[in-house]
Amino acid sequence: MVGGRPLEGTVRISGAKNASLPALCAALLTDEPVRLRNVPEVRDIRTMGRVLGALGAEVEFRVGGVVEVRARNLTSLEAPYELVKTMRASVLVLGPVLAREGRARVSLPGGCAIGARPINLHLLALEKMGATIGVEHGYVEARAERLRGAEIYFDTVTVTGTENLLMAASRAEGETVLRNAACEPEVRDLADLLNAMGAKVEGAGTPTIRIEGVRSLGGAEHRVIPDRVETGTYLAACAIAGGEIEVRDCHPPHLEAVIEKLRETGLRIEEGPDNLRVRSPRTLHAASVTTLPHPGFPTDMQAQYMVLMTQAAGVSTITESIFENRYMHVAELERMGAHVRVEGRTALVTGPTPLSGAQVMATDLRASACLVLAGLGARGETIVDRVYHLDRGYYRIDEKLRGLGADIERIRWP
Ligand code: EPZ
Repeated sequence: MVGGRPLEGTVRISGAKNASLPALCAALLTDEPVRLRNVPEVRDIRTMGRVLGALGAEVEFRVGGVVEVRARNLTSLEAPYELVKTMRASVLVLGPVLAREGRARVSLPGGCAIGARPINLHLLALEKMGATIGVEHGYVEARAERLRGAEIYFDTVTVTGTENLLMAASRAEGETVLRNAACEPEVRDLADLLNAMGAKVEGAGTPTIRIEGVRSLGGAEHRVIPDRVETGTYLAACAIAGGEIEVRDCHPPHLEAVIEKLRETGLRIEEGPDNLRVRSPRTLHAASVTTLPHPGFPTDMQAQYMVLMTQAAGVSTITESIFENRYMHVAELERMGAHVRVEGRTALVTGPTPLSGAQVMATDLRASACLVLAGLGARGETIVDRVYHLDRGYYRIDEKLRGLGADIERIRWP
């Protein structure tokens, strides 16, 4: 891409990847069909389709983001390493398979670019519900005649941990209470689907969730919420490239912390019921931020916000309190001319510094988005390598940005 062109026009937000992934797994809790709408056609969704297929579920991808899953009966209870290693969210089959079949074998996901990302809290909580958990040869072996409701307190807020336990508890014996549960909108969306399937979940979206287990769940139809991180990414894109855009099909209340923080930097944002009108100011001001569990500023927006701060006047600190190693994008930004100093979990950004286009390499999904945003604001040409990271979670980001006037194209790189 070649930077320097302000953005203008309208961009439509796709469904949330991180709401679609647990929703697909929830279909394992019933032998009836579950139909999901507004599912983004991104790589991780295809991968989850393969994981469900490997378990014996029928997965049908229809046009326009409709996916139908029918797990009539499971022919395997194992999520194999070769699939789990490509997408750690595969661990979300653990809760539903264990609840339905009394047994599950899931490869440990292993670390990834942003940290060790253990699943110890998922396993501890399932043990509290009466499961026997063994870990050997890189696999989790879980068994439970029938899961029993329990009082569970999560030491650390865990999004997929909360989601795994929501699904496991939905078909357990008795009541489960999850405390210090994740409040992310994706957790609330999963609970809405589970309740549509006949589950009895209360309090999703708050730190305390009560689930009254039921013997069986039925099929349902569900529309997945818009992707709040994709929405925030386009707000940041407009702030960096300049111009004025409208973001449609989004849900502003799901990203209030991001909207407030971007307003603090000077970005003009008008909120509508399902749209945002954004205008970039002449100058941006530095504003510090700490990533926090929802409703705090999301870690998935940290890298994108950092690019913005390299263009803002002043010194800002960005503290990453969720993951221990989510600064892989810093070295690449420095190669483009950014002034960022990382000390432990805090990055010190001094701006504004002109960015110059360069050949850079993506390491993880959000870092690759940050490099694309940097390219929009850089002088000259930027080539982002390993864009498969992008395609995991952003639906056609190059087309959407080109639709806003950016000079960006996908190339076949040797
Ligand atoms: C989810 O990952 C998201 N993925 C991530 O988005 C997101 O960054 C993250 O939540 C935080 O919001 C999906 O929803 C598929 P966590 P998850 O469990 O659930 C520690 C993206 O870009 N922890 O909330 O894996 C963990 O190491 C991805 O779409 C334990 O120690 O994150 C981390 O430091 C990247 N033990 C913190 O908790 C556990 O058992 C939060 O992790 C579980 C987590």
